[in-house]
Amino acid sequence: MESVPQILIVDFGSQYTELIARKLREMGYQSSIRTPSQAVSIVARNRFPMKGIILAGGSKSVYQKNALRLSRSVFESGIPILGICYGMQLMAKDFGGTVKRDHKNVEYGPAEIKVASTNLLLYGIKHRQKVWASHGDSVIKLPKGFQKLATNKNGGIAVMGSPKRNLWGVQFHPEVVETPCSERIFRNFVDRICGITSDWKPISVVSDIRKEIADDPSIRAVVGFSGGVDSTVATVILAPVLGNRLLAVCIDAGNLRFRELKEIRRHAMAAGVSLRVIDAEARFLLALRGITDAEKKRTAFKHVYNQILMEMLRKFKATHIVQGTLATDLIESGATGGVNIKSHHNVGLKFGRFLPLQPLASFFKYEVRALAKELGLPNSVTNRTPFPGPGLFIRIIGKPVTRERLELLRFADTEVRYTLEEFRVPPVSQLVVALNCIDTVGVKGDDRVYGPSVMVRAVQTADFMTAKAIQFPSEVRSAITTSLTSHPGIVRVFFDETPKPPATTEFE
Ligand code: XMP
Repeated sequence: MESVPQILIVDFGSQYTELIARKLREMGYQSSIRTPSQAVSIVARNRFPMKGIILAGGSKSVYQKNALRLSRSVFESGIPILGICYGMQLMAKDFGGTVKRDHKNVEYGPAEIKVASTNLLLYGIKHRQKVWASHGDSVIKLPKGFQKLATNKNGGIAVMGSPKRNLWGVQFHPEVVETPCSERIFRNFVDRICGITSDWKPISVVSDIRKEIADDPSIRAVVGFSGGVDSTVATVILAPVLGNRLLAVCIDAGNLRFRELKEIRRHAMAAGVSLRVIDAEARFLLALRGITDAEKKRTAFKHVYNQILMEMLRKFKATHIVQGTLATDLIESGATGGVNIKSHHNVGLKFGRFLPLQPLASFFKYEVRALAKELGLPNSVTNRTPFPGPGLFIRIIGKPVTRERLELLRFADTEVRYTLEEFRVPPVSQLVVALNCIDTVGVKGDDRVYGPSVMVRAVQTADFMTAKAIQFPSEVRSAITTSLTSHPGIVRVFFDETPKPPATTEFE
């Protein structure tokens, strides 16, 4: 059955907006994230059967001049609305309530709410309930017709509602895992208040996209194939419909790990496409010459990557470019309105007249893995740990990328992998082996050496928004150190056990 989103999520620039969509998907509900102005036009034109609206959080204050707003027509549409944090404050302000920075009620992190009256939104949750909050502003005076449904520790308004108008607001974040009653609140809103029955499964995205593509025989597409779970799943979804109108291209920038190209070829076979590999090492090394700064390196990489894809699109007379971009890539690159943490290679590329096809743009990694499994892809695809597009280039730290440094890093990466296998260390979400090019002094045999070190980092994570660093047992650390420093060019080994945040997974 074709699935249609019934919940509209309005994005006000919070990093958590995608988490709402993800939570709903986990519960079997499909949603669509839109900007405030898109939301107004969707509601006005009744474009799809929207049965509920969620106003997400935001980073501004609703009383700021340039704060994002929502037209009154949405609030008066009769569609049930749940406002989260900024969304609640916007609703309160619009109906004549007061929103202010209230130092007494500022909450960052774990908080508690106390249910004040029986209501549909909080049905079935404990009288006192732990939640996670992050706000400086608060609704300090309720708008007319609204009731205080729960209070915070200081008696402030934590949940408000107008059952008559079907408008609800929470001053905390039910979408984050730190709010234990998360599912109950969303279930109450979506199921009890909006009357939506859950019938959506991630796999239905496959038939939806295939159907959409099949309707347009003029589509010819190029897919940037990296062999990772994202681009492989995107390819498997499209390959059966597009047949020879799809060209899979792997750009070998000279930044791959040992034997990686072989694996990429195997994954292309599993995806049912023949792969065109473009050897572009010389072009990339030239573009990266002399660069050490992380963002400059990423920008230079992105530029050449973009150029090569454009050349392929023109040659193939394509209409579309397929990318395995995920929600996290967009969030972390600031494409959803947040801060730019790092410029992911596949976000914000310029393809001119070629249209993007990003079938996975609202998914998180673990969901794509579940799709890969359902699509029958081998374990090597399903469980493949991520490897960033700029690859080993962003793992050479402190000095410019050269062929020799790439070779040394490739050696180090292979040694670490073999050692982990030898000690049967359970799989990690991602292993990062990087070359720290700040030279330090060592002694090997009777000789002084002065050279780079290797940094080893392994993380465990569900979605790469946050990650726990793994501490390897001491015998594993010793074995890694011994094998790496057996190379004449490596002086020291560091193990990085910083979680994300504050560190990111990659060093650059
Ligand atoms: P960070 O370092 O931001 O990385 O914690 C989160 C995940 O994204 C991967 N990553 C990239 N993947 N293109 C990609 O395809 C990129 O430019 C890029 N930068 C980081 C990183 O390896 C980790 O899995």
